[in-house]
Amino acid sequence: MKKGFFVFIPLFAVLAWIAIPVVFAGDEHRGASHHDHMEGEGDSADGKVERVPGGTAHEHADRKDGRISLGLSPMMRSHQHAEMREHFKGVQMIVKGISEGDFETASKAAHEKLGLTPEVAKMCDLMPNQQFREIGIAFHNAGDELGEVLLKRDVTSSLKSLEAVLAKCASCHEKFRQ
Ligand code: HEC
Repeated sequence: MKKGFFVFIPLFAVLAWIAIPVVFAGDEHRGASHHDHMEGEGDSADGKVERVPGGTAHEHADRKDGRISLGLSPMMRSHQHAEMREHFKGVQMIVKGISEGDFETASKAAHEKLGLTPEVAKMCDLMPNQQFREIGIAFHNAGDELGEVLLKRDVTSSLKSLEAVLAKCASCHEKFRQ
């Protein structure tokens, strides 16, 4: 009994010594895959990150991500993202205007933030993909059309027109990435 007890303790200690790092390594791995999941890169269907021999998770994501890369330079990337954030802000201003019955402000936001201004027309010209440019121009035209519809001060037709704009945002996002 006494002898068995003294064998049991060291055995338990050895097992714990082996098990603890394994448990912690498991946590670390889960933490890492969660991070990658947040980045939206290299995820497989079950949410685990797959590492490919001889390639990074990022390269693997490129192969799995069905979107077309525009291959933008770092400067163009930050420029393009900034423009997108302005588009999003425009949508917010438009929804705010509609909800408050301020259709004039909403219309102004539609033309200035989403419409085909000379600046965005220039930006679109710099984009290296024909289909991207076409969706871009169609999107900006839809923005200007929304600007006109809003002046009718009708919530239903305004929302319908806004939906047509958002459909352009979504279709481009589905096809392209930086
Ligand atoms: C012609 C294509 C196109 C249209 C139209 C478009 N986007 Fe984008 N958008 C992109 C691309 C490409 C990215 C970059 C994705 C990436 O990071 O690789 C992007 C990124 C974004 C981002 C992320 C910006 C950041 O700083 O990370 C937001 C927000 C966004 N778009 C909002 C919108 C909204 C809102 C609309 C419509 C009102 C819209 N976009 C219309 C192509 C488009």
